[in-house]
Order: sequence, then structure tokens, then C-alpha cells
Amino acid sequence: MPNYTFEVNGQSVTVDAPANLALLWVLRDKLGITGPKYGCGINVCKACTCHVNGVAVTTCSTKVSSVAGKKVITIEGLAQGEQLHPVQQAWLDRDVPQCGYCQPGQIMAAVDLLNRTRNPTDADIDAIENVCRCGTYGRIREAIKAAAALMP
Ligand code: FES
Ligand code: FES
Repeated sequence: MPNYTFEVNGQSVTVDAPANLALLWVLRDKLGITGPKYGCGINVCKACTCHVNGVAVTTCSTKVSSVAGKKVITIEGLAQGEQLHPVQQAWLDRDVPQCGYCQPGQIMAAVDLLNRTRNPTDADIDAIENVCRCGTYGRIREAIKAAAALMP
């Protein structure tokens, strides 16, 4: 099998994998990074959301071959040491999660939104397509607005 080298949370990794293996399975099964979650596998639920070169992607629908030479950030790489990312802090402050399963993806999507716009409207927030079976959408909206005020 071919080797692919890329960066994950600031560390260079090389994996031996079929070209079309989903990044989600490389992260979870080969690298032991389990923040990104499997929900649907077909780019619908967004539970697997991570960043590639600073942009949110669904890793279930991203081939490992397509991230060679790129920078991948998962929920595990968001904090700077002990310093939580403002979105993580806002999530804690607002007690957003219920079961928690969708939350890594929700947070990565929220960070992507705030990187693109520091003053998101309700419509901007509602355009996030990540599914939450527990229905935490109201608190997600509040937390994104709170995080916007905390962003550097
Ligand atoms: S697992 Fe549902 S979009 Fe990736
Ligand atoms: S917190 Fe349970 S699915 Fe979102």
C-alpha cells in the first residue's frame, strides 16, 4: 500500500493506507485519534468534521490520498496546551453538550465559521449542517455568539 505523509495536530505522520481510505478511519483506527466521530459515513451528519488546511471537512468523505502534504486539525489539536480554544471555553460555559457524540464536529464547524466571520448572524449559524440528535442547537447558537466575543 502507498504511504501518505501529512501533519496532524502539529505532528508529521506517515501512514500506509489504500488511496481511497477515508481520513476518518486513518485518524481513528491507524492513529488512535477518536475525537472525530462516525455517524453516517456519507457526508450528511458531519460528526466527523475536522479541519484540513484550516477549512472544515467531513473526514468520512475525504480520501487520505487527498490530504498528503496538508495540515489536519482534529478536536484534540484545538487547545493550545492548557489554554482552551475560545469555542471550547464557550461550550463549557454554556454547558452545550448532552450525550456529546456530535460535539467534536459541532465545535470544529463553529471554529471554521468564526474563522470566516467574527460576527455570525443567526442565519450564518443555522447554515451549519451538523446534526445533533439531542437537540442542543439553541445552546450551540448562544455559545457561538459568546465565543465570537472571546476570539482574539
Ligand atoms: S460520519 Fe456523517 S458526515 Fe461524516
Ligand atoms: S449532544 Fe447528543 S447528538 Fe449532539
